[in-house]
Amino acid sequence: MKTFRFPVIVIITFLAFSCPGKKDEIAISSPNQVMRVIFTLKEGIPYYRLEKNGFPVLLDSRMGFRLSNNQALDAGFVLLGNEIQTIDTTWDQPWGEVKTIHNNYRQLTVTLQQAGTARLMKIVFRLYNDGLGFRYVFPKQEHLRDFEIMDEETQFALKNNDSAWWIPAFKPNRYEYLYRHTAIKDIDTAATPFTIKTLDGGYLSIHEAALVDFPSMTLYPADSNILAADLVPWKNGIKAYATAPFSTPWRTVEIADKPGDLVTNYLILNLNEPSKIKDVSWIKPVKYIGIWWGMHIGKYTWGSGPKHGATTQRMEKYIDFASKYGFKGVLAEGWNTGWDGDWMANGAVFSFTTPYPDYDLEKIVKYADSKNVGIVMHNETSANTENYENQIDSAYSLYEKLGIHYLKTGYVGTKLFNGEWHHGQFGVEHYQKTVELAAKHKIMLDIHEPIKATGLRRTWPNLMSREGARGMEYNAWSPDGGNPPNHVPTLVFTRFLSGPMDYTPGIFDLMIPSKPNNRVNTTLAKQLAYYVIIYSPLQMAADLPENYEGKPGFQFIVDVPCDWSDTRVLNGEIGQYVTIVRKDRNSENWYLGSITDENPREFTVSLDFLDPGKEYKAQIYADGKDADWKTNPYPLDISERTVKNTDTLDIKLAPGGGQAIRFVQL
Ligand code: NOJ
Repeated sequence: MKTFRFPVIVIITFLAFSCPGKKDEIAISSPNQVMRVIFTLKEGIPYYRLEKNGFPVLLDSRMGFRLSNNQALDAGFVLLGNEIQTIDTTWDQPWGEVKTIHNNYRQLTVTLQQAGTARLMKIVFRLYNDGLGFRYVFPKQEHLRDFEIMDEETQFALKNNDSAWWIPAFKPNRYEYLYRHTAIKDIDTAATPFTIKTLDGGYLSIHEAALVDFPSMTLYPADSNILAADLVPWKNGIKAYATAPFSTPWRTVEIADKPGDLVTNYLILNLNEPSKIKDVSWIKPVKYIGIWWGMHIGKYTWGSGPKHGATTQRMEKYIDFASKYGFKGVLAEGWNTGWDGDWMANGAVFSFTTPYPDYDLEKIVKYADSKNVGIVMHNETSANTENYENQIDSAYSLYEKLGIHYLKTGYVGTKLFNGEWHHGQFGVEHYQKTVELAAKHKIMLDIHEPIKATGLRRTWPNLMSREGARGMEYNAWSPDGGNPPNHVPTLVFTRFLSGPMDYTPGIFDLMIPSKPNNRVNTTLAKQLAYYVIIYSPLQMAADLPENYEGKPGFQFIVDVPCDWSDTRVLNGEIGQYVTIVRKDRNSENWYLGSITDENPREFTVSLDFLDPGKEYKAQIYADGKDADWKTNPYPLDISERTVKNTDTLDIKLAPGGGQAIRFVQL
């Protein structure tokens, strides 16, 4: 799985000794010499700054920690030494938005010692051509073993009061908010990925990589141009419990000249460890349908009763539909006992092994098997992680025994068990435990109300998808009218930068007759374009099967894959529009998705991504005459033409519209 095309590793070791008071500066450049990171100790305080082409991107920004009992681990340091390395390799993703990833960076490790306490702290910087990652490392040492972090002092000092797209942290609905676009000085404490447009026209995304055994990082404006880390605390106020040897997650800054380059930046995956799962042959992307939207639009219920959604009979019908159209997964929510009454408040009563009497689990599994369809199991915990952890071993063992390999989990609730945040160290540990246990039982995970993605899918490729933003369901019941047309064009450059999202696209019955106050705020063509725009290796066709039968546009959902060998962004502006092309992993076919906010758009795109010298049949699903998300969302024009890589294509998007194209190599 791992290939070393350029096995180049150069190590240069410098040893420098210094005393507090003296200014030490050590710098490295990126492999292409465009970026430069400079580490400085000023009066014993560690800082870093970042430059691109000799111009500052981040000004001197503080680093370090405050520990319990007001102990400072952010000052009084001397530099013991440093080491510089160059790495240049490639590796292959077992599944993904692109197959082969180039990992090329220069690394600077500085070793610091605190003069008064003799404590050791290293800071490791990895500088790529398109961004920076850095982490704190606490080696095994005599003067620091078990410690409590009360604050991380890391800052990101911008040059100006730039603007950013962000969602608030520490709110009851976790990451499920509409993104706001404001000046840095006007942000509340915000979750990451945090996307910045700089006043000099560049783009930055601040996030983290390899978030394990540590609280997640949020950002607040310490000054009009300074973002500072704020770790999500335990209920008792402590941010993190640590035992040396110990490393923090990587703090990451991706840098781009245009927004689309943020989308194809793989720094976060590169900063994660290679796969810990040796045999990944059982890990397979899947398009799935499910007994799901029916509950969100009030047609069915999760709980028992006359409208119970997950019945044996309905599941068999869904399996038949899946088998007829080539979907390899079927989800059933509400299959297990515990949903009756106010399920959001009663997480303690869920059973993860006991089906409702009208859902014959074993019969359904056998039936699905006979049709070559897999079951996507569902575990809603209502955020009661204690109840879940008590059952998780027996539940995952049962699923493995039944041959069930897909599992969607859910954590609806403002806080996890015992009042802990979803995104603190407690939550991070819980989610990680599910991922590792699932791997042991050959289960692929799709986590709703998750911890944000930080590239751990590289290390644990069974961690396939997650929610972590307002998905399609908000259109079914949100009192604010659902996701506005600019929502997904914003997610592409914010939430999606962290990793795959189970947005659950593909709603055809856009006006939702059973919910007069709700509707889906897109055209039909935009729903099709989502299958290319939104990357998820577990990709749902979310509408009811009866809303697909006989609809010509459904053919695109049947045809589109969810595993890619290449991804390119042809154009895009954050929150406005974007056009993405992706190449199927298992054929020579390409797919294009283009979406817009409430404004109509026209583009001409070059087809130079297609193989030279080959002809392709382009199957085009475009907004039809007078289509408009608000007044006339359904018109869909389906046409075909033959194209080659020297051609250009005119794309016309309706207000709130989209376009999807399949290019079949002839
Ligand atoms: C919220 C999830 O996002 C949704 O997909 C699921 O149907 C409900 N929780 C119930 O688990």
